[in-house]
Amino acid sequence: MKVLVVGSGAREHAIIWRLSKDNNVDEIICLGENAGISEIAKTIEVDIENISLIREIIIDHNPDLVVIGPEGPLSNGITDILSDENIKVFGPTKNAAQIESSKIFSKKLMLDNDIPTAYAEFFNNAEKAISYGKNKGFNNLVIKADGLASGKGVYICEKSKEAELAIKEIFGGKFGKAKNLLIEEFLKGEEMSYFIISDGKTIKRFDTAQDHKRVLEGDKGKNTGGMGAYSPSRLINDNLDNKIISKIIEPTIRGLKRMGINYQGFLYAGLMIVDNEPYLIEYNVRMGDPECQTILPKLKSNLLELFLSCCNEKLNEVEIKWHNEK
Ligand code: AMP
Ligand code: GLY
Repeated sequence: MKVLVVGSGAREHAIIWRLSKDNNVDEIICLGENAGISEIAKTIEVDIENISLIREIIIDHNPDLVVIGPEGPLSNGITDILSDENIKVFGPTKNAAQIESSKIFSKKLMLDNDIPTAYAEFFNNAEKAISYGKNKGFNNLVIKADGLASGKGVYICEKSKEAELAIKEIFGGKFGKAKNLLIEEFLKGEEMSYFIISDGKTIKRFDTAQDHKRVLEGDKGKNTGGMGAYSPSRLINDNLDNKIISKIIEPTIRGLKRMGINYQGFLYAGLMIVDNEPYLIEYNVRMGDPECQTILPKLKSNLLELFLSCCNEKLNEVEIKWHNEK
């Protein structure tokens, strides 16, 4: 089979590397380029934010399956566009991708479905945001730009000066077109990246990882998109796992269904674990990077079959097997 992967990161390299080991994969084409991917697949250098151009290229290559790696093309609706052309595509639709592309949409989904998360308020202008922060004494607040910012539009503020600067930077356009921000309470715990795969009817666990986000020794610096990872997370246990599924994952899928959204693809729950209780910090509609590089080497099952079973709503027929190594 011919598979086309969109994206040029280490995550897409890991996906392509793993697909290249599946005996039913004959050809892999990557829209995007990096040195590692070029060694194992045909690469085409293209701006993957240019949706009409990548649509043309994909139609020309007529792949059996398209796998979308990053959130950008998903939130621009590439899944919907390719599905309209009867091309099989692994990744959620534009409507579903809002749970990552809008922090306000996702926070509302969490609050409406009683999903444990940090309390938050939304603001559309700097003055009101600053005055709310002042009332709260600017004590350990988290300030987030609404919109995609590659993990960088989030400020953890311990002092009022930092918070005011953060609010001004967000509304000043530092993260593109953020017209809204949210201010939420700071959760003190340890983070876990939790993954599932879904075909819209069935969900299956897709392992956990610990991602290291803040720069400087002792997590003292600013957030990055993630600088290193290991899998599985040292925090996971059966009791916690069951709580994550019943309190976070299932209500999310049900809540989306009530809005008419059928979720297909990877779902990444960014969690804060506080005393063995999970709190949802954010959703991502894709695999994590760098988490993916630590999870896929442990996958024993055929990855192409897994992707196809999701596109065909037959995930219930597939057993996901893992190697025991960390
Ligand atoms: P987000 O883009 O919402 O995932 O936030 C990026 C990172 O900021 C998270 O991975 C956490 O490290 C940190 N963070 C976000 N929200 C909170 C919170 N309410 N409490 C503590 N840390 C947070
Ligand atoms: N490593 C964090 C992310 O992929 O969003």
